[in-house]
Amino acid sequence: MTFKTIIEPFRIKSVEKIRITTESERLDYLKKAHYNPFLLHSDHVMVDLLTDSGTSAMSSAQWAGMLRGDESYAGASSWLRMEKAIQDLTGCPYVLPTHQGRAAEHLLYTRIGGAGKVFISNTHFDTTRANIEFSGATAIDCPIRENSDPALLHPFKGNLDPVKLLEKIEKYGPENVAAVVLTVTNNSGGGQPVSMENARQVSEICKKHGILFILDACRIAENAWFVKHREPGFENTTYREIAQQMFALADGCIMSAKKDALVNMGGFLALRDLDLAVQCRTVLIITEGYSTYGGLSGRDMEAIAIGLEEVFEPDYLHYRIKSTEYLAENLHTLGIPIMRPAGGHAVYIDARAFYPDIPLDQYPGQVMVCELYRLAGIRCCEIGSVMFGKYDEAGKLIPAPMDLVRLAIPRRVYTQSHIDYVIETFDFLRQEPGKTTGFKITYEPPFLRHFTARFEPLTKQ
Ligand code: F0G
Repeated sequence: MTFKTIIEPFRIKSVEKIRITTESERLDYLKKAHYNPFLLHSDHVMVDLLTDSGTSAMSSAQWAGMLRGDESYAGASSWLRMEKAIQDLTGCPYVLPTHQGRAAEHLLYTRIGGAGKVFISNTHFDTTRANIEFSGATAIDCPIRENSDPALLHPFKGNLDPVKLLEKIEKYGPENVAAVVLTVTNNSGGGQPVSMENARQVSEICKKHGILFILDACRIAENAWFVKHREPGFENTTYREIAQQMFALADGCIMSAKKDALVNMGGFLALRDLDLAVQCRTVLIITEGYSTYGGLSGRDMEAIAIGLEEVFEPDYLHYRIKSTEYLAENLHTLGIPIMRPAGGHAVYIDARAFYPDIPLDQYPGQVMVCELYRLAGIRCCEIGSVMFGKYDEAGKLIPAPMDLVRLAIPRRVYTQSHIDYVIETFDFLRQEPGKTTGFKITYEPPFLRHFTARFEPLTKQ
C-alpha cells in the first residue's frame, strides 16, 4: 500500500492564531507597506511563506532543552553540546558560534575578502554577496547552464559549473580567489540541490589551486535527501553520513542554524585551519560575544544541538521534501510556470513567464508577490530584479537573470490544508493575470534594497 497523503510526522501541541482578513483590509495594509511585503505586520499575514529561516516550529524535545540551557558566560554545557554536535557533523575542529548565518559570513569574508579579491559560487545568497561586496571584493556566480532554464528538469540543478570555475580561476589568478563558496542547497538558484560528485570536483579544483573551499551549509540535510534519492551509490548511506561526506570535502562551512538546525535563531562558522579560526575568533569576540556563546544564549545553543539531530530523521526529511514537491507539482498541473524540479525548502515561480506583458523594469516578481497577498493574505518574496537588479551608467535597470517568486515553506509549521489554500489561490490568480500592472520604485537603499524598498503601482497605458 502506498498512500498519496503526506502525513505530517508530528502532532500539534500548541497553536498560534491566524487572523482571517478581508481583501479590502489587505489592500489597505499593502498600500501602507508601500507594496513591499517585508514592511507588512505579521498579524496581517495569513500564510507566511516569506522565508523558511528562523520560522521553524521547535519540537517538544527542543523546548525541553531550552529549559536545560546553561547560561554561563564561559564554557557552558549547552555550548559544549552544540560544539560537539557541529564537530561530529562537519568534522571541523574549530567552531565559532554566531547569532545567525550572516554574522558568520561577516567574520570570515571580511578577513579573507577586500579589494582585488574574488569569490566564486554556484550562486551567492544575497547576504553572502553583500558581505563580500561590502569588503570590497567581487562575488561571481557560476551555476551550471541548466540552472537558468526554470522549466528544464535536472537532478542537481544547483551545481557549480566546474569549467566556468576553472576559467575564472585562470582569469583572476588563484592567489586572488579568496574562496569558492558552494551553497547547498542553492537557495538563490531555485533551492536546487548540489550533487556529491559536483562537490568533489569543486573540492579537487580548489585543492589543486590552493583555494579555500567553504560550504554554505544551511540546508545540508535537505540536500542530503536529494543525494540519497537521486545520485547513484548513496542508496544505503544515511542522510547524516551523506552530509558528513560533503562537509569532509570542504575547508570549512558557514551555517545559518535558522534553517536545517530547526531553530529560530543561531548560526556558526566551522573551520579546519587554526590560524584562520584565530583571526575570525578575535573579531567574533569584538562583535558577537565571547567565543563560547557568540551571539547566542545557552538555551539557543541547546536547541541547535538537538535540532541538528532531529533534522536528519528519515521521516522528517521525507515529509519535508515531499510536501514541498506536493505544492510544486500541483502548481505545475495548474499550468503555473515554476522552477522544476521542486527545490527542498521552497517553490520558485517564474513570474517573468507568468506575466509576459509586464516589462522587466516594472518588476513582474513584485507584482506576483503583491497579488498573492491581496488575494489570500499569502506573504512571499521576490527573488529577481528587485533583489539582484543593478543599474547601468545611464540609470537603466540591468535585470537579474530570472524574475522568480519564492514560496518558502517554514519547517513543521503549516499543514496540508494551508498548502491546498495556496494552490487554490494560484487557481484564482491564473484567471486574471492580464488585469495587473507593474510597479516603479519610489525609494531604495544602496544595499539589499528588497528589504526596505518602496513601490508604487503604475497605471495601465
Ligand atoms: N546563506 C544562505 C544560503 C541563506 O539562505 C541565508 C539566509 C544565509 C546564508 C544567511 O543566514 O539569515 O541566518 O543570516 N537565508 C534566509 C532566506 C534569510 O530567507 O533565504 P541568516
